[in-house]
Amino acid sequence: MTGSSRIFTVLGIETSCDETAAAVVRGAPPGPAEILSNVVFSQIEEHRPFGGVVPEIAARAHVELLDHLVAKSLDEARLSLAEIDAVAATAGPGLIGAVMTGLLTAKAIALAAGKPLVCVNHLEAHALTSRLTAGTPFPFLLLLVSGGHCQFVAVEGPGLYTLYGSTIDDAIGEAFDKTAKLLDIGYPGGPAIERLAAAGDSRKVPLPRPMLGRDNADFSFAGLKTAVAHATREKGRFSNEDVAASFQQAVVDIVIDRAKFALARFRDNYADRRVVVAGGVAANRALRNALAELSAAEGFEFNTPPLPLCTDNAAMVAWAGIERAAAEWFDDLSFAPRARWPLQELVPGSRLLRRIPIHDQ
Ligand code: KG4
Ligand code: ZN
Repeated sequence: MTGSSRIFTVLGIETSCDETAAAVVRGAPPGPAEILSNVVFSQIEEHRPFGGVVPEIAARAHVELLDHLVAKSLDEARLSLAEIDAVAATAGPGLIGAVMTGLLTAKAIALAAGKPLVCVNHLEAHALTSRLTAGTPFPFLLLLVSGGHCQFVAVEGPGLYTLYGSTIDDAIGEAFDKTAKLLDIGYPGGPAIERLAAAGDSRKVPLPRPMLGRDNADFSFAGLKTAVAHATREKGRFSNEDVAASFQQAVVDIVIDRAKFALARFRDNYADRRVVVAGGVAANRALRNALAELSAAEGFEFNTPPLPLCTDNAAMVAWAGIERAAAEWFDDLSFAPRARWPLQELVPGSRLLRRIPIHDQ
């Protein structure tokens, strides 16, 4: 990787699911960087009546909101488009109609303003957020926990990811959301479960801990969800608070057990001792605290972005854009949005389409 100490100012756009977001970030790897603006509009109210994200509604809302949010993010940053170095947008993975709206907008802006485009992988944006906020050096062990993913990854640089383990069925956020639906406590499920769990007893409801003690870093959450369905079938047997607390504890126990294996493997592979947890479920305090404790016990430095930068936002997309711009990796306007796009497919260099000389502002 070439790298440079040039400071980039990048406009980021995020529309992969139900958050419409635009942000302007200024900085250079390894970070930390300055967030000049960070505007997020959560479509929760639009989707609430349906108990989950409706793809068509999400895409339509992104179209209606995005122009305004981009203008607002530039306004708050007190910058014009001419003063931006590049436009970065989430190009996947995510709901395809939703991703498409953000990516098309970014392409139009890049074309009209004559700026380079960076097509950002949403998972890479989550993965690199702790560099934006804390300047975490490479390599680090990443636990990526979101609505669609749950994986341990060794991160050596942008595009350099080695998968240690992932879920063999449901994603961790999906488990929170489905449990919340069973309890009829609303959407999105994660924050609702966490709130209820605070008032419950985690020992009340016996729930399984799938995969415990296995010699790998894979996860499974489907059995846990089925057990919650059984426990809640008989109305009034357990309080919602106790189910929420017991579920959350089971999830924490599973993650900590799998983390022990991932930490050991990372220790075998690298001299560095750093763990980062990122993604929407990293907003869960019980999980953050348990991972922080385990990391301390194992001699690992622990970092997780502040709560608002764990859930979907455009500052992390702008930052991923800076990391790629600094390596002179830009994308062509023909880049197609991707519904599925694993981190391991981000081979550095394979997407090198255009080199922008450092002196060419
Ligand atoms: O990263 P994110 O905002 O969107 C995706 O890329 O998926 O993650 C959303 C997921 C949802 O499943 C949501 O329920 C979960 O993150 N989540 C939480 C919490 N806040 C959000 N899960 C547990 N506890 C939370 N406090
Ligand atoms: Zn996300």
